[in-house]
Amino acid sequence: MQINKSKPSVPVFSIEEVNQFRINTPGSYEVLHFNNAGAALMPSSVIEAQINHLQLESIMGGYEAAKFRKNEIADAYHQVGILLNCNSSNIAFTSSATDAFSKALSSIHFEKEDVILTDQDGYVSNQIQFLSLVKRVGVKLVYIENELTGGIDLNDLQNKLESYQPKLLSISHIPTNSGLVQPVLAIAGVFEAYQKKHPNKTWYILDACQSAGQMKLDAIKLQCHFLSFTFRKFLRGPRGVGALFVADAVLENKLEPLFIDMRGAEWKEKDIYLPATSAIRFEDWEFNYAAILGARESVIYALSIGEDRIWSQLQFLSVYMRNALKNIPNLILLDKGMELGALITFYVKGADPVQLQTELNTAKINTSISYRAYGLIDFDEKGVTWAIRASPHYYNTIEEIDLLVSTLKANLSDK
Ligand SMILES: Cc1ncc(COP(=O)(O)O)c(C=O)c1O
Repeated sequence: MQINKSKPSVPVFSIEEVNQFRINTPGSYEVLHFNNAGAALMPSSVIEAQINHLQLESIMGGYEAAKFRKNEIADAYHQVGILLNCNSSNIAFTSSATDAFSKALSSIHFEKEDVILTDQDGYVSNQIQFLSLVKRVGVKLVYIENELTGGIDLNDLQNKLESYQPKLLSISHIPTNSGLVQPVLAIAGVFEAYQKKHPNKTWYILDACQSAGQMKLDAIKLQCHFLSFTFRKFLRGPRGVGALFVADAVLENKLEPLFIDMRGAEWKEKDIYLPATSAIRFEDWEFNYAAILGARESVIYALSIGEDRIWSQLQFLSVYMRNALKNIPNLILLDKGMELGALITFYVKGADPVQLQTELNTAKINTSISYRAYGLIDFDEKGVTWAIRASPHYYNTIEEIDLLVSTLKANLSDK
């Protein structure tokens, strides 16, 4: 049985507020966008910041424009610091969440037989990187058992931390292919207690790619050493920019990405380089500064609305959507977990997902399809090979959800 501990039955935002969000979102007049877990519609402030910078680059020169905007660029670190409750010096910008994750992973000195302990719903690219380390270095990949209700079993996490004392604990906060929200604060509690008994044994990376922008993330409370995310999803920022939180313990222990570049380090002597003291150590020299400035605006925008209010509205919209979808014959909701977020996934017996998605697209309704290869363990456990993912955001309305559901119903009853 699915238990959802969230109980949002009323909207948090007034109709006027939602209208204002839509006025600030030109795309909301063009499409009915339920692919926010892919890339959300950007607000005007994010779009303008990028266009302005590209225009500046075109008349000034790219390097000169970055120098001209150096205060705003510095402020981008500050804003992300506010978002995650950490200092600017703990933030590195990257080109994607995967880039952030792999830089963190590459900084850990894995040896043969070292254990990577992870959840069964981790992001596909993270899983492939672990398997690459299994192949190249001979590390062991150990999975934490899931509760029957979905999400990791905290007792199993505790036992496996104790028995394996892994080199790495890696958790995906919200997987790409289901609405599950892992109990990251409880995980932080287990990890903190373990670390007190076994200090400096285990690094912890939290993949917060789908949770950033949905809910408040406090990197300190989460007890993670690294936290990776991207801006284009629920933060509503541009494509092609992500970020990595790097804890002080990582910097003090002199971890650095394997392929550190001239931004992350200074070449001091012929055979000596010095890594940067801050999280900049994890950055590349080349940046799309227009995207960094757009990312900054996306954070300012999210903070101005309030992360707790955003989360409550997303809970309201996703409960509404799940309740409406479950009345469609042959449609099976796939989301499991004690807490569910704004990624709503479903399967329809006998339907062709591409055809279904195309029919929705024709009605200007955006969704996405997840396939087995995106979450092998989860898909096999659920016994399906695909899922349609509909992911609302706070600028979506109840009327839009009703339209998604009626369009689906009409298309499925045609068959
Ligand atoms: C849970 C999760 N982690 C990581 C990623 C990777 O993000 P990016 O495409 O920015 O590398 C995604 C992308 O969908 C994701 O859903």
